[in-house]
Amino acid sequence: VQTQKIEALIGKMTLEEKIGQLQQCGPSLVGAFEVSFEELLDMMFDGRISQEEFGRLMSTAEKDFHEDDLRAGKIGSYNGVGDALTANRLQKIAVEESRLGIPLLFGYDVIHGFRTVTPIPLAESCAWEPELWQKTARMSAEEATAAGIHMTFAPMVDVAKDARWGRVSEGAGEDTLLNGDYGAAKVRGFQGEDLSQADAMAACLKHFAAYGAGEAGKDYNRVDMSAQRLWEEYLPAYKACIDAGARAVMPAFNDLNGVPCTVNEWLLRDVLRDEWGFDGITVSDANAIAECVNHGVVVDRQAAAKEALQAGIDMDMTSNVYAENLAGLIEAGGVAEDLLDQAVYRILKLKVELGLFEHPYRTDEEKEKRTLVKPEYRALAREAATKSMVLLKNEAILPLNPQQKIAVFGALANDPGQMTGAWAIGAQENDCVSLVQAMDAQGISYAYHPGIVDGIVAMDEINQFAEKADVVILAIGEQKEESGEAASKADISLPAIQLELTETLLRTGKPVIAVLFNGRPLAIPTVAEQVPAILEAWHPGIEAGNAILDILYGAVNPSAKLTTTFPFATGQCPLYYDHISTGRPGGKSKFTSKYLDTPLEPVYPFGYGLSYTAFSYSNLQVETSGDAVQLAVTVTNSGAREGEEIVQCYVQDIVAKRARPVKQLKAYQKVLLQPGESITIEFEVPFEKLGYYDQKMEYVLEVGEFAFFVGGNSRDNLSETIHLSFI
Ligand code: IFM
Repeated sequence: VQTQKIEALIGKMTLEEKIGQLQQCGPSLVGAFEVSFEELLDMMFDGRISQEEFGRLMSTAEKDFHEDDLRAGKIGSYNGVGDALTANRLQKIAVEESRLGIPLLFGYDVIHGFRTVTPIPLAESCAWEPELWQKTARMSAEEATAAGIHMTFAPMVDVAKDARWGRVSEGAGEDTLLNGDYGAAKVRGFQGEDLSQADAMAACLKHFAAYGAGEAGKDYNRVDMSAQRLWEEYLPAYKACIDAGARAVMPAFNDLNGVPCTVNEWLLRDVLRDEWGFDGITVSDANAIAECVNHGVVVDRQAAAKEALQAGIDMDMTSNVYAENLAGLIEAGGVAEDLLDQAVYRILKLKVELGLFEHPYRTDEEKEKRTLVKPEYRALAREAATKSMVLLKNEAILPLNPQQKIAVFGALANDPGQMTGAWAIGAQENDCVSLVQAMDAQGISYAYHPGIVDGIVAMDEINQFAEKADVVILAIGEQKEESGEAASKADISLPAIQLELTETLLRTGKPVIAVLFNGRPLAIPTVAEQVPAILEAWHPGIEAGNAILDILYGAVNPSAKLTTTFPFATGQCPLYYDHISTGRPGGKSKFTSKYLDTPLEPVYPFGYGLSYTAFSYSNLQVETSGDAVQLAVTVTNSGAREGEEIVQCYVQDIVAKRARPVKQLKAYQKVLLQPGESITIEFEVPFEKLGYYDQKMEYVLEVGEFAFFVGGNSRDNLSETIHLSFI
């Protein structure tokens, strides 16, 4: 019935109206500030305007929504409308004033929360907790839909092994399994049980495919990789989101082995639709269809339109290339109208699934007001932040006791607007709590100084302040603009001035606790060596300050573990735990695979993170049963307080015809243990997860020895080897 209704509607549409459904436009801002939404985004990303200024302009500047085009049925969707008043006003034009009354679809980047901003995805992934990931996505959907949004451009599940890439902040780190689990949980949370409910939001997974593998960590750069690697390390995370029911897919900006993903028919039709059975919509990235001309794979915008439609792009995000060219192409017989009809069908189907034909206005201003930043949302944001912060080092300094006198240094301790991190365009600075604000609110007395004034370390004040303190808290790291889109870096170490500040504080002789704010792994070898306590706080979201205090004072026992490797030096990038062995694995002798000027190992390995208690592992057992390997291990809380441990299970196929990773995550569990308590943790690893793609691209299970490793990080674990014949 639904199919017939949609087909009947398509039957009534003019060519222009059909093309209109494929058109996603962003508002142009008019008046004093006459730039497009994309240019404005660009200005925010490259630091010409702050996030706050961006928010102010978005909410106050006069905008041109191209209403005449909307009335004429030439617009099917908007990107970047994030308030109920505007959304409903535009929807009314679409529904009541356009000839066919087809409702609009509003898309928006709800990446880590809408108004209630939660930790950046890289941080939240360190919780290793799918239930949490789903809960925060549900909360985001409730808020965003109340503001009129129907689809989020998330989750991003681009496996990212190169810390130079700014967008490592937007995904779940370097591991394939974790990215897939994270993405699937987000899809479930965003979309809820039933997409037609007013608080459900379609998930547009991105960026398909392998955007995180750009050469040298440079954004938008080429991706050139073997088919085996693509299928084993990169595609499974996207597939997990498709299997979880994601209703939209955004192809990546990059080319994949020479063909831009936007016009990559193999990727968008053969793999996505034919092999994986995806029947939702594809939405190009912003201006990406037009950029195929820059890639040098088409002569002009018209050819780009033709290639993109043929490759399987349904919706054109803001390049206007379809609007300008498809009618002419179809009329001249250069493109089959049937292809257009298929794209229109999929877009209308999504609108039907979202219930927009029956309920085009899913919210109003009243609902928006009572939904945004509810107290229970703040509580969840705080929980997510504490579960995301990784205790990297602690020489018996933490937790603090309330009697200790505290001096706080560093501008990041007192900058609420910096707490949200990249891609938080719905954020408002007033909602955010910095560390200093949280100390005030909680009645903790402290002395605060930024430490660096006019680019110079304020030596005298530091000494005066530190002298009176028992403990020093130092906030250092990156500005939020230093990670995210178009924020790749050729040097991921801390700026010299921050290192000088750190050294100055260490020289005071007071115990120093470094609280790191950053959106990527940092190369911090000296900080790691010299500072006695380090908390990786990332960009924690609106509850930053409260969550940091929860950890520093021990109300919450830290449990997060890194999902990304921290190198010694930028030159080691890409550095990741699941590399394959070379013929000359790095070692002491000269002719081995290593660098002369850095250690072989990272500063902090994947999976690493400390607790205020300690966990020990014993009695690992590995055996087969049915079509799976069964593992059991005893985990004991050998410390003095209750704590959660993330137990990790890795495997190595020791000998295979293709070189295999030295270790690969296959399963994990988070467990809560009382002091002295021991429990047995069991893992089941199905045989089918132990294969690989051979040279002919056949997935094979190769008989032989497999080593299994279980422990609290990717470096220190128990191991057992077992012979597997897969029968
Ligand atoms: O969703 C984003 C994408 O990740 C980068 N370009 C812009 C899109 C929509 O705003």
